[in-house]
Amino acid sequence: MLSWDDYNEEESRKTQALQATQELTKIVAPEPTVIVQESIVETPAPVIVVEETIELSLPEPATVAAERSGLQTPATVQVQPVQRENVQQTEAKTTSAPQSYERVTVDQKAMINCRADLNQLVPFKYEWAWQKYLDGCANHWMPQEVNMTADIALWKSDDGLSDDERTIVKRSLGFFSTADSLVANNLVLAIYRLITNPECRQYLLRQAFEEAIHTHAYQYCIESLGMDEGEIFNMYHEIPSVAAKASWALKYTKEINDPTFDTGTIEADKALLKNLIAYYCVLEGIFFYCGFTQILSMGRRNKMTGTSEQFQYILRDESMHVNFGIDVINQIKMENPFLWDTEMQTLARDMILEGLNLEIGYARDTMPRGVLGMNANMMEEYLQFIANRRLAQIGLAEQHVGVRNPFPWMSEIMDLKKEKNFFETRVTEYQTGGALTWD
Ligand SMILES: [Fe+2]
Ligand SMILES: [Fe+2]
Repeated sequence: MLSWDDYNEEESRKTQALQATQELTKIVAPEPTVIVQESIVETPAPVIVVEETIELSLPEPATVAAERSGLQTPATVQVQPVQRENVQQTEAKTTSAPQSYERVTVDQKAMINCRADLNQLVPFKYEWAWQKYLDGCANHWMPQEVNMTADIALWKSDDGLSDDERTIVKRSLGFFSTADSLVANNLVLAIYRLITNPECRQYLLRQAFEEAIHTHAYQYCIESLGMDEGEIFNMYHEIPSVAAKASWALKYTKEINDPTFDTGTIEADKALLKNLIAYYCVLEGIFFYCGFTQILSMGRRNKMTGTSEQFQYILRDESMHVNFGIDVINQIKMENPFLWDTEMQTLARDMILEGLNLEIGYARDTMPRGVLGMNANMMEEYLQFIANRRLAQIGLAEQHVGVRNPFPWMSEIMDLKKEKNFFETRVTEYQTGGALTWD
């Protein structure tokens, strides 16, 4: 099982490697020349093998990796492409770089492997991404705005909640308090630099902040209720059903967050696609749903209403995250149809089904008996219903024929077919200062 310690150790190794690369670049590249090194450098001596050098005359913002990262570069750029399996695609990627400064057109923009200047937000190619950014901003909220007084009294009373209900609250806060950190780290450390579209990056920045707010919300609940913080924040290490989900997601971050990782080959592009499916379709699209349902059910019964309200705000954000991610996945498929071959489709289906099984395991662990008008079997059917939806959203066949939603009240709260519109009609928007309401 991957652990956060492994992850940090790996990060430290990569940081050292990056520093070595930067040091080497400084030595061999007198200004204004910049060496854009695409492979990790382990050679101690300042020797660079120039396999191919392309002189680009760029009076203003340069190109290639510098453009992808959005950094300013000096006038001349030397490129040292690493050897790749997909030579044809690498050539196209390199030679399609603009030879001189030019205004970006919509046709030049692409979700991955784009060579156009990423500092130019407009003209928009993906209006939906910009709209989601605006919608995300319009839904802004902060955890301290939710009144937790009733929750504190209920949590501290001896007979306020049953043992099973208390387990659900603790497990939910245990899972979510670290899961949103995993999502945020994946966004910032892995996905962001590989998505080569400025309007999508704008939404990713918004999403990253929302993930920080979510982690804040869980921390706020944990602190308000006076829980044992060590116990809650270590559940993703110590509770097998929680650890299994965190570990499953982490391995997809590790696959692409190496600083030397880059897209541009079929294998690498598929690795990015796998990461997007893992995080948007499974982690945010399935792993959140048992916990959300349990806590929202509590709120409907007038228990832990402050915590439930926090979760409902978070669910509103998460619905948009999932919709955004699915749009990105489908756009990458559309622009790169060769990636979506039979092998990739099978892999994507298996990933979603694996995630489903882990979430069913979590449901059984957190609901050994019926509680809050639900039980593990009902939750299993509900999760199958959601997994069907995720499969269909990325163009795959549903795998659980005939399953129905056993929690129609969840459907009313966040109808999966109307995720985009639900909160516009049912929830007072943040700017008006209104609160969420329960049916
Ligand atoms: Fe989140
Ligand atoms: Fe999210």
